[in-house]
Amino acid sequence: MTTFKVDIKIVLLICLVFVSFLADQTFGHPVAVVKPLQTIFNVLAYGAKPDGKTDSTNAFQAAWEATCKHPEPARLVIPGGVFLVRQVKFEGPCNNKSPIYIQLRGIVKASIDTSTYTEPEWITFEKIVGLNLNGGGTFDGQGPAVWPKHDCMSQAKCASRAINLKFRNITNARIGRITSKDPKGFHMCINGCNNFRAKALEITAPGDSPNTDGIHVSHSNDVTIAKSVISTGDDCISIIQGVNRIKIADVVCGPGHGISVGSLGKYKNEEDVHDVLVKNCTLIGTKNGVRIKTWPDSPPSAATNITFTNIKMENVTNPIIIDQNYCASAKSCRGNKASNVKISQVKFNNIRGTTPTECAVKMHCSPSFPCQNVQVSDINLKYVPVGPTNILARAISECANIRVAVAGFVIPPLCK
Ligand SMILES: *[C@@H]1O[C@H](CO)[C@@H](O)[C@H](O)[C@H]1NC(C)=O
Ligand SMILES: *[C@@H]1O[C@H](CO)[C@@H](O)[C@H](O)[C@H]1NC(C)=O
Ligand SMILES: *[C@@H]1O[C@H](CO)[C@@H](O)[C@H](O)[C@H]1NC(C)=O
Ligand SMILES: *[C@@H]1O[C@H](CO)[C@@H](O)[C@H](O)[C@H]1NC(C)=O
Repeated sequence: MTTFKVDIKIVLLICLVFVSFLADQTFGHPVAVVKPLQTIFNVLAYGAKPDGKTDSTNAFQAAWEATCKHPEPARLVIPGGVFLVRQVKFEGPCNNKSPIYIQLRGIVKASIDTSTYTEPEWITFEKIVGLNLNGGGTFDGQGPAVWPKHDCMSQAKCASRAINLKFRNITNARIGRITSKDPKGFHMCINGCNNFRAKALEITAPGDSPNTDGIHVSHSNDVTIAKSVISTGDDCISIIQGVNRIKIADVVCGPGHGISVGSLGKYKNEEDVHDVLVKNCTLIGTKNGVRIKTWPDSPPSAATNITFTNIKMENVTNPIIIDQNYCASAKSCRGNKASNVKISQVKFNNIRGTTPTECAVKMHCSPSFPCQNVQVSDINLKYVPVGPTNILARAISECANIRVAVAGFVIPPLCK
């Protein structure tokens, strides 16, 4: 009998060792070796309820305070389930020396009671150095509850236009495997951030949802947005003032209004935009493809070194467009004074596909500051008119205040 017991213990021990060996093999290297062991802060431990109806705002906030105060490596975990929250602010500075991890596995749903929002932001990340957000979960802004109320569409500070995810003053961010769904306003704003990399995002809202821009970037340096799918009711990505060195790669956009630099020149003292690279992207059924837009009668600023390369257009209404006479709606137009935004060093390379409108390329630059140093190469855009026949017709281009250097095969032929 004694020998039997000992045997069982040994067998169990061997099993345990084997199982943990297997676990290491299956799930990659032991966590402790790859990165310092993280202390886990689970929102459930702070009273959050994954039932989709209990207000978990205070629990989220308390779990964040604990994570952010923790001086050692820390991870905030939002597990599976549906969590209902009002406005939440993940604000630093934090005490951690290493990046903070936020792992979202479940669904976070926004409260639809907009009277509780003090700003047009739902989830805010602010003043953090080192932020890792991932986990495969979803931020659901519950936009359909407010979209029909068009009353405050024109008010910038309107709470019912809350942005799903606002990143303000974040340095060294890694955002991945996150879904943003049906925001009340924009999906994501990146403002005042440095070294911000986002990939494998899924951004989704109906094509007719009002002003649901995908990713809106301003005043930020060294931003990468890659391998993401964006379907929404406004620009998939918009890059406005003060952005330097942004790369957008392997993004699929549609429905939506395309990938835009601008609008620029809306405000006084805007900072310039430099070094924009948009490559290997696909636009499907969008209103615009790749676009640079500036307001007429604008204060002076500049947009320099912008490259669009290797872009596929499927049934895109304005595949290539520079519009220096932009106005968002008839009411907001500023007459016909010239834009003072200087656009220079722009490349459109290897852009192919189809458009349902005759004019596939529009380049309307400012009469005061004609576009400088614009190169166009290897373009093949086919006009496929809407209709039962879908016969190919000849696309055309339109230019004003621009001289274009053309190389390679370019269809439609460009006005020089
Ligand atoms: C950005 O955040 C840091 C702390 O991480 C803070 O010291 C700094 O003042 C913030 N800058 C701005 C412009 O808010
Ligand atoms: C280009 O983008 C597509 C998705 O649109 C992706 O499947 C492909 O791997 C990308 N190619 C390169 C060279 O990155
Ligand atoms: C233009 O931007 C690209 C990134 O798209 C960068 O690699 C290059 O150095 C920039 N060129 C100049 C002249 O600044
Ligand atoms: C192409 O786009 C036009 C206008 O947006 C639309 O009417 C048409 O149905 C689309 N065609 C296809 C094949 O999706």
